[in-house]
Amino acid sequence: MTQIGWYGLGSMGLAMASNLQRHLASKKALNLLYSNRTMSRGAPLQSLGGIPETSFEKLVSRCGIIFTMVANDSVLQTLLSSAVNSGHSLADKVFVDCSTVHPDTVTSAVAQLKAPGASFLSAPVFGGNPIAVDGKLVFAIGGPKSATDVVKPLIQDVMGRKVIECGEDAAKASLLKIAGNIITVNMMEAVGESQVFAEKTGLGTGPMEELIGEAFGAVAGGYSKRLTTGAYAPPLDSRPGFGVSLAIKDAKHAMTMAEAAGVKLPGLEVARENMEAARDYAGECLDSSSMYGVLRQKAGLEFWNAKSRQG
Ligand SMILES: NC(=O)c1ccc[n+]([C@@H]2O[C@H](COP(=O)([O-])OP(=O)(O)OC[C@H]3O[C@@H](n4cnc5c(N)ncnc54)[C@H](OP(=O)(O)O)[C@@H]3O)[C@@H](O)[C@H]2O)c1
Repeated sequence: MTQIGWYGLGSMGLAMASNLQRHLASKKALNLLYSNRTMSRGAPLQSLGGIPETSFEKLVSRCGIIFTMVANDSVLQTLLSSAVNSGHSLADKVFVDCSTVHPDTVTSAVAQLKAPGASFLSAPVFGGNPIAVDGKLVFAIGGPKSATDVVKPLIQDVMGRKVIECGEDAAKASLLKIAGNIITVNMMEAVGESQVFAEKTGLGTGPMEELIGEAFGAVAGGYSKRLTTGAYAPPLDSRPGFGVSLAIKDAKHAMTMAEAAGVKLPGLEVARENMEAARDYAGECLDSSSMYGVLRQKAGLEFWNAKSRQG
């Protein structure tokens, strides 16, 4: 039996790893070995049977398949370098990264792991924390087919409802994720604009939310709820569903790639500026939908609404 490992227990990682552990337990497979910078985040996973391992290098040495779900490119690069430089053999190990990172980061990771004989799959996800909790994420996956075939059964109907195969070039999966987030971020901006419009014209956010969910789908409806429930600016001691800095990172990746390809992304640029203005005004503890607070300010309203934190 292959020992499976997991690093990264943030908003998405904890939910995904919990579903994977439930699956492994149901198959009487080896329990998931997990690690995280803040180990206490793993308590719910440990209660499901997961086994803590404080060192990423040791986790890698003990596992055949290693999932990572971390904030950004530099965290992933640091982890992979620590594994490569650990002195442990990486031969035949499969690394599966589910974070949203630049395709160039994926290409470097593939090259870095090739020398010691390991494979790298890029497997980024679409959907937020509630969808991760339900095990209904959409995955893109790219990398060697032999590794994909081994890993896909750990994803399909375990953590995800759909796996989009992007071929042997792992960077293509990351490219699809970056392209998808152009829609995500633009949609958050559009929902935010419509809700400020509804409030200021006297239409009201309730009917607007009903329409958004009914006519534009559950994803857009969910974005509206992040505004009306105040989740765009959650309490300072909580973790946002999709942190504003993560979405700014995604937008910047898309814009760098667009520039290189001679493509203009004017809608995304506006949304990115509004997210950065939100972060300048209200700090890090904001959801990606917090451009809404800035749109409110531009309309003469407070950044905060009745359900958000108030400062
Ligand atoms: N949230 C979403 O809706 C969503 C949807 C799709 C994709 N994504 C992508 O998925 C990835 C994870 O997102 P998330 O929402 O789960 O993020 P998150 O809640 O901010 O969690 C980030 C994870 O990275 C770890 N981390 C951050 N900085 C680190 C460092 N310097 N060294 C070691 N570990 C570090 C965190 O450890 P600690 O627990 O110790 O802080 C945590 O495990 C991101 O790339 C994001 O863009 C997010």
